[in-house]
Formats: sequence, C-alpha cells, structure tokens
Amino acid sequence: MQLVIALDLPSAAENLALAESLGAFDGLWMKVGFRSYIRDGRPFLDTLKSINPHFKIFLDLKLYDIPNTMADAAQEIAELDVEMFNLHASAGPRAMEAVMRRLEPYGRERPLVLAVTALTSFSEEEFRAIYGAGIDEKAKEFARASWEAGLDGVVCSAFESRAIKEETSPEFLTLSPGIRPFGEDAGDQRRVATLELAVQEQVDFPVVGRPIYRAEDPVAKVQEILDRMRDIQSKRGGE
Ligand code: C5P
Repeated sequence: MQLVIALDLPSAAENLALAESLGAFDGLWMKVGFRSYIRDGRPFLDTLKSINPHFKIFLDLKLYDIPNTMADAAQEIAELDVEMFNLHASAGPRAMEAVMRRLEPYGRERPLVLAVTALTSFSEEEFRAIYGAGIDEKAKEFARASWEAGLDGVVCSAFESRAIKEETSPEFLTLSPGIRPFGEDAGDQRRVATLELAVQEQVDFPVVGRPIYRAEDPVAKVQEILDRMRDIQSKRGGE
C-alpha cells in the first residue's frame, strides 16, 4: 500500500510549501488535479520533482475523448515523466486499448493507467439516467472492461476495492479517495474509510487530502499514517 497525498490547496505556492515540508519522505505519491495542472502546468510538476526526485506524481486529469485524441494525450502525459494518470472507462474499450497501445514503446517506463468507473458525485438516479444501469453493476462492468483493455487499475471507493479485485485480478490496482486515516472529519465525503478498512479491503493507493493539509502538523500526520500503515500490514502479514 502506498500513500497518495492530494495537493488540493488553492495556489501553487501553498501546494509546493506542503510538498516541501514532506520532502524528507521518499516514495510519497502526489496527486495533481485539473485545477492545479491547468493553472500551473508542467513547471509545477518539474518543481515537485526537484523538491524530491523520489516523489511520484499521479496526474488526475480523467481523460475522456475519441480514441485517437486520448492516445495522443496519453503520449504527451508519458513525456511529462509522471508515474500515473487516469481516464474515464466510459470512453470505451477502443479508447482504452488505443491508449495502452500508444504507451507500448515506453515499456516499463510508462506511467500506470487507472480508469474512473463511476464518479461518486452521482446519485443512483442521475447515474441511471446517463448510463442506463445502476452504479454498482456498471462500475463492475467498467472495471472488468478496463482490466481487459490492459489498464493497471481503477479509481474506486475503498468499499468496492475487494469486489473489483475479485471481478478482475488481485494484481489489478485500486486507488481510493475518501480515506480518513483515523476517522477524521469527513467534510463533504459521503462514505469514508479508515486506514484499517482500506488495508482490509486491499486498497493499493489510499488518497488523503484534507486530513493531511488541514492538520496542525502535516509532517507529523504523514509520519503517523505511514507508521500505522506499516503496523496494520505487518500485523495482517503475521496472521
Ligand atoms: O480532502 P480529501 O481527502 O477528501 O480529498 C480527496 C481527493 O480525492 C480530492 O482531490 C478529491 O477531488 C478526490 N476524489 C474524491 N472522490 C472521488 C474522486 C476523487 O474525493 N470519487
């Protein structure tokens, strides 16, 4: 399990200050979203890497377009030297296959590709009106299609992680937002999972935003999370 920190602060300066304060932790993942990337672009990614070259970047752009345009975008993302990005599974198997084909020349250097199955902001009714099926059913179907297209994993709630691995493969990665490591304030998240639950549900990448950047001491908070992750995992390994 690897911790992903959502860099969701309102300015590049604040996000970089947070990253800088966490510079001593090797191998942390930094999630860079729409807002930040549109505003701050590639120089922001380069600055993150200059703070710590071992930071890994997850570019959360959720691509959705025709297959060739998605493949073009995927290739440009691979050139950005980021370690992971995502796209919408509802763009369809042909688009997902085109993306994976386009990344083939990068071999083991290619970024990991995750699919978004269902946006959690949808109510069941809204989702059904657009996709013609229920969220659970369709999310599983999308997860399966993205696995068959050769993607590395999906973005899903911690509560769906295990079912998705059962539907696909234990190696198919799951990245889950809405994690409140020690049961912190849920904010606008509707269903939140603790670290304990995320480990139990085999989440590969827990994403944590506010509980870290709103903590009085974000560095201590990250240390606490990493220690706890290690603890829970070693306990489970010993079972
Ligand atoms: O602050 P918090 O820990 O709730 O941040 C979670 C991050 O994950 C935010 O960047 C949010 O946009 C993102 N996210 C989410 N739920 C989804 C997909 C992404 O909370 N379904």
